[in-house]
Amino acid sequence: MCGIVGYVGDGNAKDIIIDGLKKLEYRGYDSAGIALNQKNNLVVRKKIGRIANLEEMIQGEDLTSHIGIGHTRWATHGAPSDVNSHPHLSQDGRIAVVHNGIIENFVELKKWLTEEKGITFKSETDTEVIAQLIGVYYEHDLVDAVYKAVEKMEGAYAIGVIAAEEPDKIVAVRRDAPLIVGLGNNCNFIASDIPALLKYARTIYLIENNETVVITKNEAKIYDMDRNEVKRDVFHVTWDADAAEKEGYDHFMLKEIHEQPKGVYETLTRRLEKGGSIKLDGISLTKEDLDKINKIYIVACGTAYHAGLVGKYAIEKFARIPVEVDVASEFRYRDPFVDDHTLFIAVSQSGETQDTLAALREAKNKGARILSVVNVVGSSVARESHDVFYTWAGPEIAVASTKAYTTQLICMYLIALYMATQKGTITKEYYDHIMDELKQLPDKLEELLKSEKQIEEIAKKQYRQTSVFYIGRGSDVGISYEGSLKLKEISYINSFAIAAGELKHGTIALMEQGTLVIALATQDKLYDKMLSNIQEVKARGAYVIGLAKKSNTAIEEQADDVIYIPDCADEVTPVLAVVPLQLFAYYIAKLRGCDIDKPKNLAKSVTVE
Ligand code: AGP
Repeated sequence: MCGIVGYVGDGNAKDIIIDGLKKLEYRGYDSAGIALNQKNNLVVRKKIGRIANLEEMIQGEDLTSHIGIGHTRWATHGAPSDVNSHPHLSQDGRIAVVHNGIIENFVELKKWLTEEKGITFKSETDTEVIAQLIGVYYEHDLVDAVYKAVEKMEGAYAIGVIAAEEPDKIVAVRRDAPLIVGLGNNCNFIASDIPALLKYARTIYLIENNETVVITKNEAKIYDMDRNEVKRDVFHVTWDADAAEKEGYDHFMLKEIHEQPKGVYETLTRRLEKGGSIKLDGISLTKEDLDKINKIYIVACGTAYHAGLVGKYAIEKFARIPVEVDVASEFRYRDPFVDDHTLFIAVSQSGETQDTLAALREAKNKGARILSVVNVVGSSVARESHDVFYTWAGPEIAVASTKAYTTQLICMYLIALYMATQKGTITKEYYDHIMDELKQLPDKLEELLKSEKQIEEIAKKQYRQTSVFYIGRGSDVGISYEGSLKLKEISYINSFAIAAGELKHGTIALMEQGTLVIALATQDKLYDKMLSNIQEVKARGAYVIGLAKKSNTAIEEQADDVIYIPDCADEVTPVLAVVPLQLFAYYIAKLRGCDIDKPKNLAKSVTVE
């Protein structure tokens, strides 16, 4: 969601901030803006729409400054508009604020500011309340005013603040929304995420909740709620600057689809000992801990939730522990049965998803052991978990998740196999067999990506569809959900996924001449059943694209088009089966002229409930 960038140093703040904001576009936004300090005056420029609109607006203006803050806004309070865009100014124009998150008590604060302090608000946003509050408390000391304002603010937020009178510093605060500090040469930064800084700073501080940061050109200091200075170890970013560039691909999504062999390889091989046993860095679950556990919840949102569905198959099959998979936004409100015999597995690419965080906290309060599978190092979900298992996908920029998903699946297999070996529920032969299958996946993914052209051709025949159905059985059900989500989020086609055996209980009523059905038949033991389901929809006029293993060619008799994945064990097909569905969604969206990396209404990191 919203992105924040702040810069103070010798360079041209405007250019550096706008460049950083562009690297945060993936978070999703509907307007952008900057505030610069020019000779002790705050100059604010903001515009609805893409960053390019803002650039066009300020083209030719002299906006030279060495300090400023910038923002990409994803509207929550107040529609996307120029006036609701950030930064927001205090009434006297001496304080500028950018904000990511929600101020829950903004109505009450707004009332107080209006009635008691005579403030007239310009926008409909909760953020303007912060600017006005700091403005009211400001007495030539920005840090003090921010501390006083924060005491009154309830909610989840990261803010960046500058004052006209103090052109040397940016003050920032983190509470339940991401914030990092980048340490550069004669310059320092604040930002919502690492990609914004990659070009300028590789040494960063990960800011903790309820911390305040003060950066000047030469210093970056962190303080706790009681204004005591906090010492923090630096974190060195190892990604190269290209990690956040498209490197010749038309879109980040396509680049990230192609990065899956590497991501899967990294996530897997970093965890394997020479003898083939699993070394779970970041997880301290012993056999005794596992013996105590009688129930596992996997809780996540969207694509990460779909990874959880495959995780359930793997853990129940290998480790024989019952697993429930839950959508995070539902979990916390249904008084789930959780105690100290529960293992709660949170899955999240960003590690900042508010629904997932809230569910995690609910489970933790009830005594559960918390294990998280996260891509972003040092994110909130990672920090609040007892054990963290990182996916090694690298930065995922496209809003539609691809490589994070396949690496999450690998983590699920590794966790399941580790539990199984600890609990003695798997034979050595079966373990070696699955491990061998997993190790072959990077090469098989490379092989599979060679079908890209064929998938593009199939997409050319189908991109005008208005609805698409995905069907499958066993672990293909979860992959159907994921394929369907991918299609709807980037192409805006109404798609629907359902267990193939469930079709006849209602949904088959929707089949008619030309209805597009994507039938996943990758499971050997369910293959014949799937062929029957394909016949059922064909009989009602459906056009079927089948997905099967290379050796299972009987599907050609039933389906209109067939996409093959390399042969592999049923247990690991999800990692392969999802890739053609990602490519199909990609090419459909491309042919429809959609904004693939930044789909409308969506945000990469969903930091509101
Ligand atoms: C995936 O393509 C989506 N954009 C979305 O469903 C995403 O997976 C979900 O919001 C969860 O995000 P997280 O993994 O960062 O927690």
